[in-house]
Amino acid sequence: MNKKDILDILKSPDKSLFKEADKVREEHVGNGVHLRGLIEFSNICKMNCLYCGLQSSNKNVERYRLAKDEILSIAKSGVEAGYKTIVMQSGEDSYFSAKVLCEIISEIKSLDVALTLSLGERTYDEYKAFKDAGADRYLIRIETTDEKLYKKMHPFADFENRKRCLRDLKKVGFETGTGCLVGLPGQTVESLADDILFFKDIDADMIGIGPFISHPDTPLASEPNGDFNLALKVMALTRLILPDINIPATTAMETLKENGRLLALQSGANVVMPNLTDFEHKKLYSIYPNKASADRNEVEVMLKRIGRYVANDFGFRKH
Ligand code: 5AD
Repeated sequence: MNKKDILDILKSPDKSLFKEADKVREEHVGNGVHLRGLIEFSNICKMNCLYCGLQSSNKNVERYRLAKDEILSIAKSGVEAGYKTIVMQSGEDSYFSAKVLCEIISEIKSLDVALTLSLGERTYDEYKAFKDAGADRYLIRIETTDEKLYKKMHPFADFENRKRCLRDLKKVGFETGTGCLVGLPGQTVESLADDILFFKDIDADMIGIGPFISHPDTPLASEPNGDFNLALKVMALTRLILPDINIPATTAMETLKENGRLLALQSGANVVMPNLTDFEHKKLYSIYPNKASADRNEVEVMLKRIGRYVANDFGFRKH
């Protein structure tokens, strides 16, 4: 598929794409759905991404940082509950030095579980240290490949450095995940087509796609939310173009539309990331408002209804 093919599909009202992506998903990654248990261990962030409720200029968030022991105990209960992957996610919080993180990483890895990190931009040496400590995967969304829009949305960040992070992560041997937001103010469908081609170009192992959801405490408060169907299309096209990768049914999809997670799982997604953080902290991790959560039991019932099941392996990409 070239850019024009992708654009034609993104602009077309035809819904057959979703069925097609579902078929390709079944052929290449099967009916198992991987559950990744998410620990949101700090909402402290030095960045200032315009869309994000955790941006440093938002003074309306009560900030928290979990202690090492708390993180480890959440990870342990996740593993006991049967999770095969733990995901450690936080804002860009410099308190967590590579040294502290590496200690946490090796302790979690001793539980015999796959470990994904989502900690933002770090140096090559830090990424290398995380990998050497045993982490398996790293998520860092490019957010948008439209460089002008990227600049506008990320006043404290640099597009080239973002791409450098992705290159370094691949270089040190991580399964590398990226993705984009759909519906950012000023975003064009052309740039969404470029996003999809970018995923292919870097041969991403995981892609997370979600609609933009307007947060009242950000400069984008009065902007409309992204379009659910367009986000679903970007996700389905990504499945067609990278048939064997892991694609989550993102929380943003479920937040924006009732049954959004179910629709995503039937349009190319094969991963769900239930939250393991306790209720009080979960509430404070307000990237966007009214964030949905995935209850493990409910997910299992939903999967059964659609002929799917919780996969029992670590869920690495099978090339
Ligand atoms: N709406 C939807 N997704 C958002 N993210 C951050 N803020 C928002 C928002 N307002 C996404 C970003 C980030 C991920 C952790 O959450 O894409 O990479």
